[in-house]
Amino acid sequence: MAPMDKYLSVSPEEALQARDGVIKLHGPEGFAGMRKAGRLAAEILDELTKHVVPGVTTQEIDDIVREMTLQGGGVPATLGYRGYTHSCCTSINHVICHGIPADKKLKDGDIVNIDVTPIVDGWHGDTSRMYLVGDVPLKARKLVDVTYESLMLGIEQVKPGNRLGDVAHAIQSHAEGNRYGVVREFCGHGLGRLFHDAPEVVHVGRPGTGAELRAGMIFTIEPMINIGKPAGKVLDDGWTAVTRDRSLSAQFEHSIGITEDGVEIFTASPKGLDKPPY
Ligand code: MF3
Ligand code: CO
Ligand code: CO
Repeated sequence: MAPMDKYLSVSPEEALQARDGVIKLHGPEGFAGMRKAGRLAAEILDELTKHVVPGVTTQEIDDIVREMTLQGGGVPATLGYRGYTHSCCTSINHVICHGIPADKKLKDGDIVNIDVTPIVDGWHGDTSRMYLVGDVPLKARKLVDVTYESLMLGIEQVKPGNRLGDVAHAIQSHAEGNRYGVVREFCGHGLGRLFHDAPEVVHVGRPGTGAELRAGMIFTIEPMINIGKPAGKVLDDGWTAVTRDRSLSAQFEHSIGITEDGVEIFTASPKGLDKPPY
């Protein structure tokens, strides 16, 4: 997901294209490119359902993501992105997002988000899902379920004529209705040939506000929901965002495109493994 200050620190090339805030309208070529990139991204997350078990390290997961991405004819967008040196993000328990793969073993009861972004033929397929490690307490499973529901309620609002605030409101009201906190510091983003483009897709807002949705727009929706308060902070490694109150945090992300009559989800699971249990 994009930090809210992203336009201040993207590469000069990316800044030139993105800073004006103009939301691109993509044609059939863009949709075809996103379909292919999104499919590879979803296939990688499908494969990982077999590997996310107690004892596996997040570095081992990163190795699988890198190998599958290259094997599938892609390149991981995160490798070398603003100094990031891994092929995915692995965000465990109270980590909101941008957890860095390491030699740390997943343990029974953990929840972990894995976020992948293969670039295929220049197009970015950006998606993440939650995985349950072994036996996960009901409280954590409920957070995961509500977070997935929030994403899908947001996607239901995506159609020409609606506004970004309608998407945000659907997400916020479902999450807060369950007494969870919605993270403000990171948002979804336009994407395509760029990883992080306009618009900023925030996950809290009022109906009828924000940019009007039009056919041809392509962006991610990626709500981060905490059991506790919304506030987060970034650790000294410069990446790992955690909840300030150390409460559990969950996230799901899809890359989507707006069609004449609704939405196409580029990163839907070909195997129907969109949410746990897998
Ligand atoms: N995939 C993330 C997103 O959803 C971005 C990760 S950037 C990284 O936008 F450098 F932290 F990997
Ligand atoms: Co994203
Ligand atoms: Co992502």
